[in-house]
Amino acid sequence: MTNCLPCSQGVLWLSVSIVVLSVFALVVDVYLNGNHMTGFSNGVRRLSFKIGQTKPSKMKFGGPHCKARCEVYPRTKDVKRFKVPDDKVPWKVPFPEYSPPSFTTETVLSGPYYADPDICSGKGEITKWNEIDGRVSRVSFEGKYEVVEGLPLNPVGRTGLKHRGCLGRWGPNHAADPIVTRWKRTDDDQIVKGEDGKPIMQFVSVQRRDNGEWAIPGGKVDAGEVVTDTVLREFGEEALSTKEISQEEKYKAVESMKQFFTKGIEVYEGYVDDPRNTDNAWMETTAYHFHDHDGTKVGQFNLHAGDDAMAVQWMDCNSAINLYASHKSFLQEAAKRIDASW
Ligand code: BGC
Repeated sequence: MTNCLPCSQGVLWLSVSIVVLSVFALVVDVYLNGNHMTGFSNGVRRLSFKIGQTKPSKMKFGGPHCKARCEVYPRTKDVKRFKVPDDKVPWKVPFPEYSPPSFTTETVLSGPYYADPDICSGKGEITKWNEIDGRVSRVSFEGKYEVVEGLPLNPVGRTGLKHRGCLGRWGPNHAADPIVTRWKRTDDDQIVKGEDGKPIMQFVSVQRRDNGEWAIPGGKVDAGEVVTDTVLREFGEEALSTKEISQEEKYKAVESMKQFFTKGIEVYEGYVDDPRNTDNAWMETTAYHFHDHDGTKVGQFNLHAGDDAMAVQWMDCNSAINLYASHKSFLQEAAKRIDASW
């Protein structure tokens, strides 16, 4: 008995020291590395934020969702939106003459795996708005959206078109975007600077097959999938075309990608000004930034355009860049983060 007291005190001290050391290590890690992302393959999304830093800020687009009010709906010739002037975008501004047409593509109506039932024609019902509905997230990054006459309302405002267009989900359709960057370098490995004297950032850009526009190689989050897995999968499918290489090459590519992709920083999460948006269905995304400071990591990646892309390339970033949806604003955030030329 007499020996037990010092022994249990020792155990107590040891436990206290382990806890103190772990907390110290965590604080140092967060302080040095910022809000990095870990645990890619374990299916858990874990983000820690640098001390004193808050979640990524919401961004303003050039006017309230301009692209979501484009005159002719994408991939159609004659589906025209009801014209919505800038000041009439917010739902709270009265617009009594507003009578937008309804449009949902035949593909979506045929009920593919990624689509919701056509609740307007009484086929099925959705009751879990603003909630996780089984394996589907109906939660918006923009906060609670309204549901009027059984249909969710676009959180930014009117788009001039009702129902889902070519989007599968009513309400938010979640996507993920990997912004993979490096510094632009000369042949003799010197970093190239822009007119503002700052280093020029290049990002992996894909040319979308649907409209020929250049974009970040992102994609939709599958039901039940965690965003960090979507980022890795989409980058592989669209920019590395891992589908078309041998098993061995694929394994190597995926392993080096996984390592590089553990260091992602979330630069944006929220609504996307996407031309496919409607009054009742819209795109939202989470964009992660992966920067290869010394150019040695992503340099190993063999860029190959995949299924949904016509081409892939390293593209210089600056304020004149013209990209799909609101991708330019995500890149601007990434450039700010590493103090790149813009
Ligand atoms: C694209 C993403 C994009 C999102 C919202 C997805 O289909 O793949 O890159 O950010 O739509 O526009």
